[in-house]
Amino acid sequence: MAVNALVVGGGFREHALVRSLQRSPLVGRVVAAPGNAGIAEEAECVALSDAAAAAALARDLDALVLIGPEGPLAAGWADHLRSEGLLVCGPSRAAARLESSKADTKALMQRLGVPTARSVTVPSLADADRVLDRWSGPVVVKADGLAAGKGVIMADDPAAGRAAVRQMMEGRRFGAAADRVLLEECLEGPELSAMAITDGRRLTWLPATQDYKRLADGGQGPNTGGMGAVGPHALWTPTLADWLSYQVFEPILAELAREGRPFQGVLYAGLMMTPDGPRVLEWNARLGDPEAAVALALVTDDLAPYWVGAANGELPHRPLASAGAAVAVVMAAAGYPERSEPGAPVTYGPLGDGVVMLHAGTRRLADGRVVSGGGRTLAAVASAADAAQARQRAYAEVAGVQFPGMMVRADIAAEYCHS
Ligand code: AMP
Ligand code: GLY
Repeated sequence: MAVNALVVGGGFREHALVRSLQRSPLVGRVVAAPGNAGIAEEAECVALSDAAAAAALARDLDALVLIGPEGPLAAGWADHLRSEGLLVCGPSRAAARLESSKADTKALMQRLGVPTARSVTVPSLADADRVLDRWSGPVVVKADGLAAGKGVIMADDPAAGRAAVRQMMEGRRFGAAADRVLLEECLEGPELSAMAITDGRRLTWLPATQDYKRLADGGQGPNTGGMGAVGPHALWTPTLADWLSYQVFEPILAELAREGRPFQGVLYAGLMMTPDGPRVLEWNARLGDPEAAVALALVTDDLAPYWVGAANGELPHRPLASAGAAVAVVMAAAGYPERSEPGAPVTYGPLGDGVVMLHAGTRRLADGRVVSGGGRTLAAVASAADAAQARQRAYAEVAGVQFPGMMVRADIAAEYCHS
């Protein structure tokens, strides 16, 4: 099996994917679209405007296409590529609705008895007000559709919840993504990102990771796309894996197949490990970012047969082997997540052992300087025998980064390092 690969996207996730593919003796050429300044050091990057252009390039390259971000999935790129007879790792638009409609997915989970936070979906401001009139305590307000990881507002009380609903529904901050809004009970506990590669029937677990969603230390500040990650997750056990396989992932996969929208790609459940047991908070139709950086650093097997297997319906039966620990520390541009301030120049020196510097959205200017595209920009990803050493290595790298206005959390993986 020799295969070329076209990786769609330009985040940390795609940078990690490119590096992982390049380590495989089974993979020939690796091309990224659009990629970023970091990926461009290691692989060819091209601009692609739409699914038709992606199909033409994939045919030219005779490449397996791996679609990283939710945008192209929700826009039906995988459908188009498959209809042209190409091999694609990534779900159809209909299967990706698992991520792109939180309201429909909540209803699906309720139908299948998947443990999830209790919630009400409301179609209007008036309905939201009626529900919140009877609400007490904190409320989580969620836009139904895609909002780049920012469509979830944690409100301390019903009044703040009302303000959040107004901002979404009246302020049109998220456009049509907030035509429906979910009002959800606020759960507490550590979070766990469970990701599996699937061909629509079988699944293989990637190492479980913990994402740090909030902007500031101690889990304060607004939700972001993720400010860091660590793995393997301290709470991942064979029992949890079995429970998730049999009670959660397989029923969801079977239901999607039954509905005529089989899921091929990476299926990701965001869990909260509450005192009453695990609850599924969200589904993503793709690898998490930055979770992918950590998960792929932990895997010691060649992933190429799994990506091909997910695409052609023949996922290998063997579970993936992994070793050690990995930590990713994200550096974001000033203003994130509210505003995006592109243009800050970023530099860093030679990297230490076991560390890679992943890029997201960076560009190289004509004068050779690399600048941030705004938002999350760099991630120092370190591997080591244990999380404490990986953490120390990752932060040692962060200390050497020059990046005006950069925002970085100081407590990524801190709770993994006490023993
Ligand atoms: P979601 O996009 O639904 O995963 O939400 C993003 C983040 O918001 C999650 O990773 C949690 O940190 C937080 N969150 C979402 N739903 C809840 C909930 N019901 N209770 C507490 N935190 C939540
Ligand atoms: N880091 C969370 C996500 O990729 O959705």
